[in-house]
Amino acid sequence: MSGTLFPPEPRERAEVAPGAVHVPGWLSIERQRELVAACRGWARGPVPIRHTVLPGGGVMSVQTVCLGWHWKPYRYVRTADDVNGAAVAELPGWLAELGRDAVREAYGDDGGYRPDAALVNFYDGAARMGMHQDREERSRAPVVSLSIGDSCVFRFGNTEGRGRPYTDVELLSGDLFVFGGPSRFAFHGVPKVLAGTGDPALGMRGGRLNVTLRETGL
Ligand code: SIN
Ligand code: FE2
Repeated sequence: MSGTLFPPEPRERAEVAPGAVHVPGWLSIERQRELVAACRGWARGPVPIRHTVLPGGGVMSVQTVCLGWHWKPYRYVRTADDVNGAAVAELPGWLAELGRDAVREAYGDDGGYRPDAALVNFYDGAARMGMHQDREERSRAPVVSLSIGDSCVFRFGNTEGRGRPYTDVELLSGDLFVFGGPSRFAFHGVPKVLAGTGDPALGMRGGRLNVTLRETGL
């Protein structure tokens, strides 16, 4: 934080839970800017970014657009029938490759990771995400999460339920978080976005982007 008396603590790589690895500052600023530009394109279509409506009628505060497969709660489909009926955009090869690099970075080996779906989430300052599991995938391959823009509090919990024990990790722009192995089905969420913390050099007008890569096994 600027304006504080002491410089920020260096942020170190950490295994938050077995198989859950946080790598601060993994993406270069150039890579982050490329991702911002790519997300802007994906947000326009063929399926436009929007707030997902849940089966119970609730509306998610984050805005989401998918690649490869469309996540329609609570399953993956090829056409976004809950949005405009269009087929989702392909997952670009370079993004799948970035996911493979991420898994190698986290675990030392990419384990043959072949992500075929990405969820791109945009959080404005007020958006958050409740504790949930990523469990619509049939594969047990890890989830790769990339953060860009405003910082957030990422809550990483356990596989039993939404409550404690959990660890709150601050995810900053450029951070990588991979959860697989025994943590693959851990509950996690975003209780808070720290509005206004993103670097203006990213070319965003504020907010936080999160890209998660998954192997659906479908
Ligand atoms: C998610 O759990 O799908 C998103 C997590 C995040 O925004 O960091
Ligand atoms: Fe998730």
